[in-house]
Amino acid sequence: MAITTGQARGGRARRRQNQPGFHPDVVFKDIVGASPRMRRVFRLVSRVARTDSTILLIGESGTGKELVARSIHLQSRRSQGPFVAVNIAAIPESLMESELFGYVRGAFTGANADRAGLIEQADGGTLFLDEIGDMPILTQVKVLRTLENNEVRRLGDRGSRLVDLRVIAATHRDLPAEIAAGRFREDLYYRLNVVQIDLPPLRERQEDIGLLASYFLDRFARRESVPELTFSPEVEALLERYHYPGNVRELENAVEHAVAVHEGPVIIPADLPVAIRSPRLLPSAGSEAERGPAPAAPDRTRDHWSLADVEKEHIQRILALHRGNATAAARQLGISRTTLWRKLREYGLRRTGH
Ligand SMILES: Nc1ncnc2c1ncn2[C@@H]1O[C@H](COP(=O)(O)OP(=O)(O)OP(=O)(O)O)[C@@H](O)[C@H]1O
Ligand SMILES: [Mg+2]
Repeated sequence: MAITTGQARGGRARRRQNQPGFHPDVVFKDIVGASPRMRRVFRLVSRVARTDSTILLIGESGTGKELVARSIHLQSRRSQGPFVAVNIAAIPESLMESELFGYVRGAFTGANADRAGLIEQADGGTLFLDEIGDMPILTQVKVLRTLENNEVRRLGDRGSRLVDLRVIAATHRDLPAEIAAGRFREDLYYRLNVVQIDLPPLRERQEDIGLLASYFLDRFARRESVPELTFSPEVEALLERYHYPGNVRELENAVEHAVAVHEGPVIIPADLPVAIRSPRLLPSAGSEAERGPAPAAPDRTRDHWSLADVEKEHIQRILALHRGNATAAARQLGISRTTLWRKLREYGLRRTGH
């Protein structure tokens, strides 16, 4: 894995990335990936971008759903139009409909003027409904109506307005399971799921890790004007071995962290976030399947550990063992719950387990 940046090699990498059409298998409109699964995603994106079909993006957090949505927009005939990204999970339920559909003056207290909603703002472009699985069921009915009739009715308005938009929706949730639980409407699901694109978790496309790491190293080194920076072989091995519950976002943040704290021209294990530098660490939250394989070989990376690293890892392992149950974990660790809480805070750990 040749992960490097800097004047000599980084300069070339920079020119390459700026050159449109360079190695489309590896860097595709700012999306990096060479694994068979990502190549399949690239091919699918190119094909559907030309159409007006509704697209459903499925994938764990940090797998690149928003990146792909933007890429589809930019490659579509709507690229000159707006790209309106709406994070449904971030809008309070009480504001959801006025945000999405807009309102007319007097529709409710405080509606002092007419206002277009986000759906209308996407007219002529692409509406990205992120975390669609979090949409209240009553709003789902209205969104379905908009999708079916290409029209939107502002709150308090008598008539509807025609809109011309393409919808891309995304979720990390299992929508069929949400339907079964009565939280998601089946008719909306079928309307959204015309083309489904699955973004695989990073741990299932290990070939991409080195590529992404060097891409991010180049980006952050350039941003910080660091002239020359490489990963040590141990760092490369650690990065490739980690299971990335936070997917590409976690890798990106890890590289940013390393670039921020490094001292010499080489990034060493101590520059990595502890979760990655400690490959035996189990995430405190997450299922069995998310944990990835345990490393088999005797592990020299522990040589870099501080006592605090060992303590942190042990706490996380015991918490995972007890599925996040602090009382049980504290008992096994032989400390009080208060001490456990303090240590969790100290180490920046989250307790929540599922
Ligand atoms: N293949 C990739 N190449 C380059 N950067 C990527 C890639 N995939 C993801 N990223 C970067 O990782 C970060 C997370 O991606 P993004 O926001 O698209 O994920 P997401 O699936 O929408 O996550 P969430 O569900 O948490 O919103 C972004 O900074 C994005 O640019
Ligand atoms: Mg997102």
